Amino acid sequence: MALKTLISEERIQTRIAEIGAQIDIDYPDGTLYLICILKGACFFLSDLARAVKRDAFIEFMGISSYGKGKTSSGEVKITKDLDISLEGAHVLIVEDIIDSGVTLSYLTALLKTRRPKSVRIATLLDKPERRIRQVDVAYVGFRIPDEFVVGYGLDFAEKYRNLRDVCVLEQ
Ligand code: PRP
Repeated sequence: MALKTLISEERIQTRIAEIGAQIDIDYPDGTLYLICILKGACFFLSDLARAVKRDAFIEFMGISSYGKGKTSSGEVKITKDLDISLEGAHVLIVEDIIDSGVTLSYLTALLKTRRPKSVRIATLLDKPERRIRQVDVAYVGFRIPDEFVVGYGLDFAEKYRNLRDVCVLEQ
């Protein structure tokens, strides 16, 4: 298998700076939680949180989807939940990639039941061709074709998460 750079570290950082500036404009006041969805979003969260200049709190959630890519059952399991109240706060879910949309449609609906002021999504990567559930995404780093990507948090069997670029894994 070979790795081919799709999005360089430099492009990633430039785009994250833009998104961070947009978040500062879009959220003039109120408590803002950046919710990192483990594990893939860890580097995006870490860079995005520092690109935002306003106060922002960081929290982590763990999620696993059953039969991902094979079924539209939409079964999603929370493996690590938040231990804070979201009531009255702005919530920005931070993801590495949106593929079928199953994970995010479930998670958005779940977090809305916790009475936040708003719930939005920021994703580094979006593969719109693969969507089976509609999700509103407020901030997208890059729209990419339907190729298997790794790096900058994304894995193949837990490998390649620590690459600095997003790469296509070619068979
Ligand atoms: C990835 C990604 C999303 C989900 C998106 O997580 O971080 O959570 O898949 O896919 P969907 O749009 O088809 O639901 P993954 O299950 O690979 O876990 P990881 O972040 O721990 O690698």
